[in-house]
Amino acid sequence: MKHLILAAAASCAVGVAAAATDCNKPQAAATPCDIESRVEATLSRLTLDEKLGQLWQCHWKTAKVAASEDASGLAISEKFLENARRGRFGSLIGKAGVEKYNAVQKAAMEGVGIPLLIGHDMIHSATTCYPIPLALSCAWDVDLWERIAAAMAPESIALGVNWTFTPMLDVALDARWGRIAEGGGADPLLTGLMGAALVRGFQGENLADGRHIAACAKHYVAYGAAQGGRDYNKVELADSTLRETYLPPFKKAVEAGCATIMPAFHSYNGIPCSANSYLLKDILRTEYGFDGMTISDYNAVLELIRHNVAADGAEAAALAINAGIDMEMVSSFFPDTLKDSIAKGIVDMKTVDDAVRNVLRTKYRLGLFDHPYIDEGEIKKGIDLAANRALAREAARKSCVLLKNNGILPLRRPAHIALLGDISGDAYQMLGCWSTKDLSNFENATLLEGLKADGADVAYTGLYTLTGRVDVAAVKAAIAGADIVIAGFGDYWENSGEGNSVARLELPGEQLKVAEAVKETGKPLVAVVFGGRPMAFPELAGMADAILYAWNPGGSGGWGLADVLTGISEPWGRLTTDMPRATGTCPQFYSRTITGREARYDAKFPNGRPYSSRYVDVPATALYPFGFGLAYTTFAYSNESATVDGDNVVFTLDVKNTGSRHGTEVVQVYVHDEVAKTVRPRRELKGFQRVALAPGETKKVEIAVPIDSLGYWVNGKYTLEPGFWTAWIAPDSDSGKPIHFEIAK
Ligand code: GLC
Repeated sequence: MKHLILAAAASCAVGVAAAATDCNKPQAAATPCDIESRVEATLSRLTLDEKLGQLWQCHWKTAKVAASEDASGLAISEKFLENARRGRFGSLIGKAGVEKYNAVQKAAMEGVGIPLLIGHDMIHSATTCYPIPLALSCAWDVDLWERIAAAMAPESIALGVNWTFTPMLDVALDARWGRIAEGGGADPLLTGLMGAALVRGFQGENLADGRHIAACAKHYVAYGAAQGGRDYNKVELADSTLRETYLPPFKKAVEAGCATIMPAFHSYNGIPCSANSYLLKDILRTEYGFDGMTISDYNAVLELIRHNVAADGAEAAALAINAGIDMEMVSSFFPDTLKDSIAKGIVDMKTVDDAVRNVLRTKYRLGLFDHPYIDEGEIKKGIDLAANRALAREAARKSCVLLKNNGILPLRRPAHIALLGDISGDAYQMLGCWSTKDLSNFENATLLEGLKADGADVAYTGLYTLTGRVDVAAVKAAIAGADIVIAGFGDYWENSGEGNSVARLELPGEQLKVAEAVKETGKPLVAVVFGGRPMAFPELAGMADAILYAWNPGGSGGWGLADVLTGISEPWGRLTTDMPRATGTCPQFYSRTITGREARYDAKFPNGRPYSSRYVDVPATALYPFGFGLAYTTFAYSNESATVDGDNVVFTLDVKNTGSRHGTEVVQVYVHDEVAKTVRPRRELKGFQRVALAPGETKKVEIAVPIDSLGYWVNGKYTLEPGFWTAWIAPDSDSGKPIHFEIAK
């Protein structure tokens, strides 16, 4: 985001008193003050209580000052408005609609004269619901990600929100972790590209234009490395791993101008992120130059007491603000205890002022001082719900991943389809964690509705739940007249997301009996797998004739999935995580560090030879690897090469569509440093390009990888050494022909 330092700022430099008055009021275009002058002018007139109020995000519903609830679920009592006037809080969390937004903003502007940031989790849905972020990451499509965020921004404003707690940038290597659903998968490059695109979409080129909202990169940092894949659990990492795997997406978000950053709940190497100045100051502020605002996670300041690093709220607040937290979410120790901690010299006034500056700067950057209210009519003019639902359908098409197809897809006509499983007829289960729960915004977009809309001859029988018993005879009876069977598998989205880690990745209930029953009849089986995480389904993979991994595809999900199954659309998605063979192989990720005894597989030892890095009972390889996904056509790679050219290594090859249908291939570049001071990942994704090819068409593809992206961290320094690299230009992280290049100096 470009913060223009306006030439007219000089006008504010002369005569601070006069300038302070000028800079304190909504700015006439003729003599605009620059943001820093306006921040200083506002800060200079605040009392200590008003300053501390800016550092608290109160909850619409549960705040101490909130009113009792009324029929709408939210009330704004006179007491609540009075607290807004007094500047008791600087922000609210929740979406209360435009009317309440304007009412509380009016009180704040008439009183303390500082508008409120009003934040909510517009993660992948506002009014329109898109696929969960992990699904969206499988689109490998920067343009799509940016378009979705841009479409969500005005919808969010129309719901009374000017700040979203998105993008979630936690690289996740362990599918047991419930929040893998919310991020960009297992790779820092891809997660960073997705995060930056979402920031650009939400914030736009001009964050202050009244049609965009502030973004929040979270959860800073390495939340996805929670021990045991169990949410909120401790994280212990080597600094090099922090810097190579978990920090890069946040650096990309800061470079994209992300307005705010949210530290994570967990402890990092013994110190909770909310009290970790190494993370919040040394890296985020000093190294990255972040000048926006940090906000704690929900009650995370209070949780410093539960982490036994603070004896009470006063100590927790002092720890947090001294470590670099600017605003406290929901718990109110900042406004309630910092005055006393300042008096005792435990917290410096400068620390408080700097936090207030960060909050005010964010509000000025968002233009809230100049336009604190939402013009509902105006903002709704820019919302095209039909277009947004079409975008959600496009996203569902592009997020699902075709993992297996023995030729039965796309569905041929005529063919009588038997569709099975409760999830195949359940629109709510398409939504996923962090989605709006208002089904009125959806077209009841179940897989059944999608198939019918696409003209399929389909008979639906719910028949079984994903977690319950299966009546095999009933399955066989239901499919007796069918030419092909489509059955829903996987897990319910409530078993993913925050606080929902699992100890088993295998398919719950008796789902496999459905596949076995279909198999016994000899009818072809298309398995559509739903859920908010990668799951372990080797048995299903062996029985199904085709597998479409659907994730939670959003409010138009069933339509998008049907478009792919019927061939109206080509399969587009590629995995952004490994699909594990078993829970026990987790954390399971493509970029694992190479060992001195790599597992070697052969006919005699299909699970790996003795005395190698293997499991006796299961191959340690992915069932389906990162980057993998099928199309309805096939591609051939040839003439792969890597050439050092200036500051880049340029990877080139020819890709040919060797099938009979159009398709787009995601050409991926992986590298391995052959000799380094530390052990290196077996492969690291360094670039990719999507290429569309007509049947028989060949295109030359060129992917430039900056040489300075080939370094690694050792002894606290980013190190790039001359040497030899192996590279693969490939369709996934397990395949490709190795080629070599040298960085000479
Ligand atoms: C939650 C989540 C965070 C979310 C916040 C506000 O506990 O950790 O991702 O933005 O609270 O709802």
